[in-house]
Order: sequence, then structure tokens, then C-alpha cells
Amino acid sequence: MRAIDPAVGAIAAAAASCESLDTLADVVRGCVACAELASLRTSVVVGDFPATARLLLVGEGPGANEDVAGRPFVGKGGQLLDSLLAEAGLDRAHVAVANVVKCRPPGNRTPTPAEARRCTGWLDRQLALCAPSLVVTLGLSALRWASGSGIRLRDVRGVVREWRGTRLLPTYHPSAALRFGPAGEPMAMLRADLRTAAAELS
Ligand code: URA
Repeated sequence: MRAIDPAVGAIAAAAASCESLDTLADVVRGCVACAELASLRTSVVVGDFPATARLLLVGEGPGANEDVAGRPFVGKGGQLLDSLLAEAGLDRAHVAVANVVKCRPPGNRTPTPAEARRCTGWLDRQLALCAPSLVVTLGLSALRWASGSGIRLRDVRGVVREWRGTRLLPTYHPSAALRFGPAGEPMAMLRADLRTAAAELS
């Protein structure tokens, strides 16, 4: 049986007491629940939440560029994401973007299940306060935040479903699209799914 992690409940309670995304951002910046990540970070990458956002994109966690910039998806993956959003007719300036974990996992490793569980309290509250019309999860970590650990991306990607009072559309992570290249399936699927997202919002 898994040991109870008191940080999970503490973060959920702290997040629930935040009545705005700005207040939440201030509180998240002080979070030290994951000692390793907190000790290594340059910044806490809280996320972008433009007031006009109807779409929320959720990635895995900040990489080196995001850790320095303090903003999500500003590296190569972010540039690809911006251009695919633009192709689909979506302007990143009006899109909310957040991650499952707010601090960079060292060496860009996948966040551990314990890190993801703790940080979920912040993301769940961001979802509630942002109240988007559509959530697009990018990659497996974000899908698991939304749908639990048993699920496989290839079984659900590209399909929109009702979820937590909004709609959910799982797709590939931009880093997979970069890894397999311009002719690879993840690029084609990510491009198609962002077009589906745009159509859902129109
Ligand atoms: N990868 C992510 O999942 N999120 C970022 O912000 C950057 C890279």
C-alpha cells in the first residue's frame, strides 16, 4: 500500500483557499513540497493564464529554457507549439498554458508519481479558476493527470469528451513531434488535434 503523503492534502487545501489565479501564483512560487526540485529550480513555472483564454494546454513540466524564463513552453517545443497553434488559427496570446509539475525535474526526467500527485493540487485549482471551454493535454503525464495511470495515449488521442464540466482532448507532446520529425506520426497527429481544438472552440 502507498504511504500517505501529507503534502498532497496540504497543497490541495492551500490551493482551495486561493480565490484568484494571481493569488495562486504567489502561493505556488513559495512551494517547497518537492525538496529536490525546489532546491534546483531557478523559477517556479506557474503557467500563462490570459484573461481571454478559452483553451487550456497542459504539458508535463518545465525544461531548462522554461526554468530560466519562468514561463511554460518557450524552448524548441514551445516554438513548434506556437506555430502549430497559429496554423490552426489559435493565437498563443489567448491560450492558457500550464504543466503538471511547476518545477523543472533535473535532466528533464519525467516527474515522479509522487511529484505529480503533489503538484496536481495546484493544477486542479488552476483548472477550476480558469474554467476553460476545452483542455488539451500534451503527452502522457498530462493525460495521466486528467485520466489516471492506466490509460494509453494512443487509445484516446484526438477524441474530445466531456470531462469535469468542460471538454478534454488528449494529444501528443510537442517533444514527441520533434523527436519523430516533420514526417512522423506525432507531428501529423498534434497538427490535426490542434485543428480539432480550434474547431471545438469556434
Ligand atoms: N515541456 C513541457 O511539458 N512543458 C514545458 O513548459 C516545456 C517543455
